[in-house]
Amino acid sequence: MSEASLYVRLGGADGIRTVVEDIWKNHTSNPKIKQRYAQSDPENVKRLVREFFGAGIGGPETYTGQDMLTAHTGMNISDEEFVAVCDDVLAALDKNNVGAKERDEVLCILYSMKAEIVGV
Ligand code: HEM
Repeated sequence: MSEASLYVRLGGADGIRTVVEDIWKNHTSNPKIKQRYAQSDPENVKRLVREFFGAGIGGPETYTGQDMLTAHTGMNISDEEFVAVCDDVLAALDKNNVGAKERDEVLCILYSMKAEIVGV
């Protein structure tokens, strides 16, 4: 039996939109990282993150942003900041009652991108 895509298991476009809204709220109130987003256009960043994750986990979205290395090069992001971002994502998933299996899958996906984001 084949398993539904992570996209479907996270509730599709609507489920992901809700989670991304909560991730943004968490990031912009997290003292460890909120300054990073001080100049950002919230709607633009949230759209890019929805596209990025949607396209990566089986959704119909097309990602129109930069690759992770290009997007984060020059920011010199620390390990601590990376953990803070992951914690914010996990908290948003918990808030929306996402299952433990899906939560673990998301964390693995995030962690797999660490080398393209931290210290570049
Ligand atoms: C695996 C973890 C991460 C993922 C999947 C991710 C994803 C993204 C995406 C899709 C974009 C948009 C790229 C574009 O503009 O074309 C972006 C931009 C950005 N990311 Fe990340 N990111 C991650 C970790 C981090 C961390 C740890 C920080 C530091 C706190 C960070 C800070 C930023 C900033 C400041 C921007 C630019 C926002 C803007 O354009 O206003 N990211 N990220």
